[in-house]
Amino acid sequence: MSHLLHVDSSLGTESVSRRLTAYFAEEWRNQHPGGYVHRDVAAQPIPHITEPVHKALTYPGTDNGQSAQERDLTEAITREVVEASTIVLGVPMHNFTVPSTLKAWLDRLVHPAHMAVPSPLGGKKVVAVLSRGGSYAPGTPREAFDYQQTYLKAILEAIGLGEDLTFVTAELTMATVAPQMAQFKPLAEASMANAYETLEKLAQ
Ligand SMILES: Cc1cc2nc3c(=O)[nH]c(=O)nc-3n(C[C@H](O)[C@H](O)[C@H](O)COP(=O)(O)O)c2cc1C
Repeated sequence: MSHLLHVDSSLGTESVSRRLTAYFAEEWRNQHPGGYVHRDVAAQPIPHITEPVHKALTYPGTDNGQSAQERDLTEAITREVVEASTIVLGVPMHNFTVPSTLKAWLDRLVHPAHMAVPSPLGGKKVVAVLSRGGSYAPGTPREAFDYQQTYLKAILEAIGLGEDLTFVTAELTMATVAPQMAQFKPLAEASMANAYETLEKLAQ
C-alpha cells in the first residue's frame, strides 16, 4: 500500500520548504490513498545520539545501556522510514549544509544494518526539497560551498534511500527579503515556480 512520510526541518512557519513539501504531500495524497505520517524535526527536535544510543545502533541486541525512551524514539523513526513507500524531505540550507535537527534524524538511521547492500531501506521514492537563500548552482561563485545537496545525496545513498532520489531546489529565497538581492527576484520566482511544477509531476 502507498504510504507517505513527510519530514520538515525548517525553523519557520512561513517557510519556503514547508510550503513546497505541503504542496507535494497534498498532491500525492490526492493521487495515492494510503498512510501518511508527518515528522517535524524542528518543532519536536530529536536528541543527539549518545554513546548508549550509538552502541545500540551499531551492536543491536547487546546490553548497551540506552533508556527505553531512547530505544522507542529510534524505533519510531526507523519504522516511519521502513513503512514509507515515498518520502518527502523539507531541507533548508543552514550554514551551507542541512539543519542539525535533520542531521539528528539521520544519525538514528545511519548504521551498519542499514548500510548493507541491498539496504533494508531500499526501494523507496525519495523527494528532497531544498531551499536556500543564495544560489549554489553550477557556475556560480558559491558552487563549491553546497554541502546541502552533496551531503544529503551521499548519506541517503549510503542507507539505500538514493535509489530513486530527486532533488527539487528553490534557490535565492532571500531575494524577496534582502534589498541587496532585489536584482535576483525574477530568478527566485522562476526557481520557485519550477519547484512547484516539478513537485506536481513527482506526486503523480
Ligand atoms: C540558521 C540559518 C542559516 C542559513 N544559512 C544559509 C546558508 O549558508 N546559505 C544560504 O544560501 N542560505 C542560508 N540561510 C537562508 C535559508 O537557507 C533560506 O532562508 C531558506 O529559504 C530557508 O528555508 P525555509 O524558508 O524553508 O526555512 C540560512 C538560514 C538560517 C535560518
